[in-house]
Amino acid sequence: MRTIAVCNLKGGVAKTATVINVAAVLAKDYKQHVLVIDADSQCNTTEFFGGDPSVGNLADHLRAKCPSGFDPAQQLLEVIRPSNFSGVDLLCGDDSLMDLDLSKVEGQEVNVGILRDLRELIEELDAGLPPEEEPMDWCLIDCPPAFNAASAAALLMADEVLIPIKLDAFALRGMANLLRQIENMRKINPNLRLLGCLPTMWYKSQRTEESEKILRESGLPVFDHIRRTDKVDEMTFAQEPLLVSSPRSAAGVDYRRLVRELVKGGKDNG
Ligand SMILES: Nc1ncnc2c1ncn2[C@@H]1O[C@H](COP(=O)(O)OP(=O)(O)O)[C@@H](O)[C@H]1O
Ligand SMILES: [Mg+2]
Repeated sequence: MRTIAVCNLKGGVAKTATVINVAAVLAKDYKQHVLVIDADSQCNTTEFFGGDPSVGNLADHLRAKCPSGFDPAQQLLEVIRPSNFSGVDLLCGDDSLMDLDLSKVEGQEVNVGILRDLRELIEELDAGLPPEEEPMDWCLIDCPPAFNAASAAALLMADEVLIPIKLDAFALRGMANLLRQIENMRKINPNLRLLGCLPTMWYKSQRTEESEKILRESGLPVFDHIRRTDKVDEMTFAQEPLLVSSPRSAAGVDYRRLVRELVKGGKDNG
């Protein structure tokens, strides 16, 4: 299972839009079985995919003390449900994820390894599946714009991290911050590979192009940008990913191209 955390400590950079559209393209165009985990207390992904946190959610299980004899990962696995989009399964977030402070991890109130254990369990089960059953091919995690217990759990689970970046003046000045973020992520999980940065909400302007150039010159792997289009906002109202609501929109086309790159394995550095 390819496990990708979509992460940036900034909000409003298109983490959620990226998770939704990549998951949908993988499921529909590539017939892949995708697990989406909503690790953000805002629960936009949960809402979009029609999830119901009351049937069980990540927050409950991050803080649950399991009675002995019960496997916490097994219990979390039982909470995963098919979403309203065929081929995409969902592990719901919950607004109480916000209260799960990283400082409590050491105080044993948070089981920060739960997602890593879940992944091991899924891979074990998939290895034993009869050929006619579909294993879980991909897992995409929508991370919160903060370093908290939920993001730590996500980064512990993932092999790869994709960093959406909105190209503006802050992004230009924020390069050092971005590099620090990646370093911090690796402190949590040394095996984590930076899949790449993804410039989002791109539009033609001198400043955007300058920002993109600086990003590319940083030596980090950078995917081709996702263009800005109102269709992304509309998609959230329609509750249908771009490939259903506006497949020919600029961002719809760009997300398909991104998935083509991801399926190939990632973006070569330079
Ligand atoms: N390519 C795009 N073009 C235009 N608007 C976009 C695009 N991607 C995201 N948005 C909009 O930007 C806002 C923030 O996106 P979102 O995915 O919620 O960011 P995050 O999850 O990083 O906070 C949303 O209103 C979303 O509809
Ligand atoms: Mg979001």
